Amino acid sequence: MQVKKLTDLDVKGKKVFIRADLNVPQDDAGNITEDTRIRASIPSIRYAVEGGAAVMVTSHLGRPTEGELKAEDTLAPVAVRLGQLLGKPVRLIQNWVDGGFDVAPGEVVLLENCRCNKGEKKDNEELARKMAALCDIYVNDAFGTAHRAEATTHGIARFAPTACAGILMGAEIDALGKALHSPKRPLVAIVGGSKVSSKLTILKSLADKVDQLIVGGGIANTFLLASGKRIGESLAEPELVKEAQVIIDLMKARGAEVPLPEDVVVADEVSAMARANKVPVDEVGPHDRILDIGPKAAAQLSQIIANAGTIVWNGPVGVFELPQFAGGTKMMASAIAHSEAFSIAGGGDTLAAIAKFHIADDVGYISTGGGAFLEFLEGKTLPAIAALEERFKD
Ligand code: 3PG
Ligand code: MG
Repeated sequence: MQVKKLTDLDVKGKKVFIRADLNVPQDDAGNITEDTRIRASIPSIRYAVEGGAAVMVTSHLGRPTEGELKAEDTLAPVAVRLGQLLGKPVRLIQNWVDGGFDVAPGEVVLLENCRCNKGEKKDNEELARKMAALCDIYVNDAFGTAHRAEATTHGIARFAPTACAGILMGAEIDALGKALHSPKRPLVAIVGGSKVSSKLTILKSLADKVDQLIVGGGIANTFLLASGKRIGESLAEPELVKEAQVIIDLMKARGAEVPLPEDVVVADEVSAMARANKVPVDEVGPHDRILDIGPKAAAQLSQIIANAGTIVWNGPVGVFELPQFAGGTKMMASAIAHSEAFSIAGGGDTLAAIAKFHIADDVGYISTGGGAFLEFLEGKTLPAIAALEERFKD
């Protein structure tokens, strides 16, 4: 993968347009509840501003209706947070597509939610050309949105005088590329979460590459069904049992494995009041719901993680938001933190688990991507990265 890099360019006196992914979670009052993506975007912004550029930053927030700006769509809270992190005020500019605003060298402005512009999501060429005309250098630092071909992630890269990858984008490509293309073995993947259907492609593509594929959450329940276990009233997708079986067989044929839990934590409801029972996997009752892996399974998992050379982690193995079902994910997080393997983690739930169990400093690389993280690991070409590759030579 060859792309131009921001850090190879002289930005002095240049107008620099940075597409970041500042799509952060907020509470009902609009307060930012988790600012990893904003903090991860700072190095490129700082590089440009300290290099003497006039810096414009934009991002989407949520999935707004184009042509409207509702109160919940505004980047105003992000501008405030950005200003705090940069230690200087960041003006928020509205209606910016046709220009008509000034940015001084050494100044940073934030351009309002780019998904409120008509044509953004369809990668409209006229819009992309107008945005490209605002700058000398276009920087794509929005790895989290790299799987979308939109006007600020794709079209603009074709028309801007120069198009390059930002520092975060470069770091993501390097870290994920390392795990994907030259992993130290054994390569262990942990794919948790509720549905096989939403992660089927990544499961299949990993089944081809990894030495151990650890499944967790509702996904594991479907795999348990496939291996003939009774799962009571647990969340699962019986219609995908065949697909799960294919993955298990594929792994076996390669001498690899999908380790399934020998014990689980069950309850009759998913609630803070639920009474949890630890049972061997063969003793799950007809009304039980499996909500976590049991202590033996967690110990087995920790062993696998301890022996790994590379770990790719997406998704929890239990309902870790509730203390009685958090044990498996907690133990796994701790095993990852203590392992000497190079570990990479990505996805919203995974980031929440990392924060909850305080292991951020002990994970090799934490990706800011959710969907983009998975698609990259599937080996797909991400349109935003492809657009930068096209511009490598000029
Ligand atoms: C995300 O949060 O997954 C990214 O910011 C991309 O957002 P999208 O899924 O709305 O395109
Ligand atoms: Mg998404």
